[in-house]
Amino acid sequence: MRVLGIESSCDETGLALYDTQRGLLAHALHSQIAMHRKYGGVVPELASRDHIRRVLPLLENVLEKSGATRHDIDAIAWTQGPGLAGALLVGASVANALAMAWAKPVIGIHHLEGHLLSPLLVDEPPPFPFVALLVSGGHTQLMRVTEVGAYETLGETLDDAAGEAFDKTAKLLGLGYPGGPEVSELAQAGTSGVIKLPRPMLHSGDLDFSFSGLKTAVLTQVQRHGDAITVQDKANIARGFVDAAVDVLVAKSLAALKRTGLKRLVVAGGVGANRQLRAALSAAATARGFQVHYPDLSLCTDNGAMIALAGALRLARWPEQASFDYAFTVKPRWDLAALAQ
Ligand code: KG4
Ligand code: ZN
Repeated sequence: MRVLGIESSCDETGLALYDTQRGLLAHALHSQIAMHRKYGGVVPELASRDHIRRVLPLLENVLEKSGATRHDIDAIAWTQGPGLAGALLVGASVANALAMAWAKPVIGIHHLEGHLLSPLLVDEPPPFPFVALLVSGGHTQLMRVTEVGAYETLGETLDDAAGEAFDKTAKLLGLGYPGGPEVSELAQAGTSGVIKLPRPMLHSGDLDFSFSGLKTAVLTQVQRHGDAITVQDKANIARGFVDAAVDVLVAKSLAALKRTGLKRLVVAGGVGANRQLRAALSAAATARGFQVHYPDLSLCTDNGAMIALAGALRLARWPEQASFDYAFTVKPRWDLAALAQ
């Protein structure tokens, strides 16, 4: 079965063709980062308009790269939520219109389910069950993943998401958008321990997170330095922030493995591209004898491949979820645990 995936929930338009036998045939992506950069964050209306401009050329690109035609597509998977309503509507309407014209079934996919399953897009995918650490711009969650569609929330952030904390720290340090990669890069030039920041909820005894206090701690440090702040000071603050965020993410992931008795951790979402987090998790895995899996770096942030994959896995397992009713709604807010079968 070949599934076309369409992702448009935020600031990336992603299309991909996934084959259940042969794996990912092709994917194509347009990131709106450059367009939103001058505003310091995503402007929803501009995002929607840009998705409209990009989606069909990207479809042609995917077909060309894969050598497939529309006749080779068996179903269309599209991101139904969560995300920006206007942006989601572009993917929803294009997916349903194409499917109706081509008489193919459609399936609406939860964006986080896509992220969660994205580490399976490798030659030797990790077997179920596993603990998933989902760290994106909008979400920070630890989930027990028993199989496709069986997700239990073990813990989540009570306020800011990890990616949001990176983005806000970047703003406070005068860096660009999106902040994650820039803070991470600057932190490489900083020295650990010079600026010591709090590890929120490290000892809370549960698997929840809180990142808003960390952002406030960064603000306090920036204000303390005042106008005299140097590039090295900023690098030390970035280092302090990354060390604190990574410490908490690693400690809670270990606690989740301990609590569930599972030996496999899968990391997904944009912050999963963070090199300090990857290094710390890999070191902890070696020391404690568990396996850690990441998606390919290019598939950590939003993309169509994870949506095509989630659609293919769902349709293989639950063929009745294939819909020929092309009326659609989008779900800007949608709890992943609500997907549980
Ligand atoms: O998963 P994603 O592309 O979009 C959402 O669904 O939110 O994640 C985007 C987030 C942004 O907050 C961005 O700053 C962060 O992921 N991010 C990173 C890195 N690359 C992206 N954070 C830390 N280190 C990175 N290398
Ligand atoms: Zn995402």
